[in-house]
Amino acid sequence: MAEPRWVLCDWETKPEIKTMVLSFLDNNPSQHFTRQEPIAGTLEADDLVVHQFQESYTNHVIRVRLKRNPSIGFVIKMAPACIPLPGVHVPLPVERGERECLAYSFFNNIAPGCVPKPLFYDKSRRILCTRELTGCRSLTDELLTGGRNSCMSVSGVRSLGSSLASVHAATHILTLGTDGLAQLRHKFPTLHAMVDMIRLFHFEKPFDAADPDRHCASAVMTSLDDVINDAAVQAAKEEAKRSFAEDCECLIHGDLHVDSVVVSGGDLKMVDAEFVRVGPCAFDMGLLLATLLMIQSRQRHALMHKDASSSVPSTRTNQDTQTAHTADMVPPAAVEFGETASRDNHAVTDRTRRETRAADVLMEEYLTTMTEKLGQDNMFMQALLKKILTFCGVELLAWVIGPPHMDFMDSSPEAQADCLRIGTVLLKNVDKISSVDDFVNLVQQP
Ligand SMILES: Nc1ncnc2c1ncn2[C@@H]1O[C@H](COP(=O)(O)OP(=O)(O)OP(=O)(O)O)[C@@H](O)[C@H]1O
Ligand SMILES: [Mg+2]
Repeated sequence: MAEPRWVLCDWETKPEIKTMVLSFLDNNPSQHFTRQEPIAGTLEADDLVVHQFQESYTNHVIRVRLKRNPSIGFVIKMAPACIPLPGVHVPLPVERGERECLAYSFFNNIAPGCVPKPLFYDKSRRILCTRELTGCRSLTDELLTGGRNSCMSVSGVRSLGSSLASVHAATHILTLGTDGLAQLRHKFPTLHAMVDMIRLFHFEKPFDAADPDRHCASAVMTSLDDVINDAAVQAAKEEAKRSFAEDCECLIHGDLHVDSVVVSGGDLKMVDAEFVRVGPCAFDMGLLLATLLMIQSRQRHALMHKDASSSVPSTRTNQDTQTAHTADMVPPAAVEFGETASRDNHAVTDRTRRETRAADVLMEEYLTTMTEKLGQDNMFMQALLKKILTFCGVELLAWVIGPPHMDFMDSSPEAQADCLRIGTVLLKNVDKISSVDDFVNLVQQP
């Protein structure tokens, strides 16, 4: 399968990549092999195939595989002190790599296998090495192009929801108490530059009419003022911004969008935990949900285009045509997901819910696990759902308007307009939503 994001790399000609490969060799990777994969002797540079990840904004990322056994691979990440973002070069703390390493250990202890296994952190060179999750693809690629070959399963989505909830619940102030949470904050002290960057890019710049880095389609841009000046939207945005910066509830991933989730053998795992911190649990789910809804909207509009350009046989009655059209509008990834769901036999099988299935299965599992693990009741669950949907609505607006950005949205002004609509509807109606079903019904209204 093509891997457009990874490009074969002439590593010796690139100083920072060379440093990463040398760090890998110096750290004696053979010692990390399992008993099932004994590799005789010490590894040399000649034993390796090195690919560079092309789409990273924040770090240098390479993948190293063994020539003699390509199923054994490693992902190596180096944190530069400054990153180029639209309009600015933002200094970021280099300790974020060490932080990510600690987060991976923490997450793995609580929910084994939910993140990659960290192998070493080279402190002097600021390099993190993890075991490669074999055969994985980003959730974005899996949903956009996986189609009928997608190996994503309902149980995989559920396990992501329950792993995230397990991490949140085990580190929650309701579990640890005030002293326990203070100790956790001591282990993961807030890297303010990281929080400030997300606050600026997600909660400020998109909502500033004069910001030069907003990038949505011009048809969408013309309707922005009405959306952003709406009192309910403003209030929700302010609350999300406050909660993001101030609420200290539990350990959060901190940047959990669809490119921070990979699909590996049907399982969904989290990667890129460099923004880990003690923060509001609803932020992780809100961001993930928003970016999932973006993919699903993009898919729906791509199929509507395809459908509109293909002719419908004239023998069909109007009703037949209507039925066929509705069925075709379902994203292929979601169709496949639906089919896998039936095989899994513990799926939400209502066909009318296919479009949001990944999102609603994830939410249901997350909310149920959180509520159970924290010994809480339905009121708690409803309050948490509202916080998640507030973050979700604000994130939808932020990613459509920019500067946060997903390439796949660029070519679809229709999907951008749809996500703007969904975000606005969510924020205006969040007080009326008390269950995942309410959320699904609201999102699916035309
Ligand atoms: N252990 C792993 N196994 C397999 N693939 C991985 C692993 N870690 C990361 N990846 C892949 O490499 C990509 C880049 O890694 P990562 O997201 O950690 O880099 P980043 O520089 O922080 O990216 P960004 O700039 O988007 O924040 C991920 O999107 C994922 O597809
Ligand atoms: Mg990152």
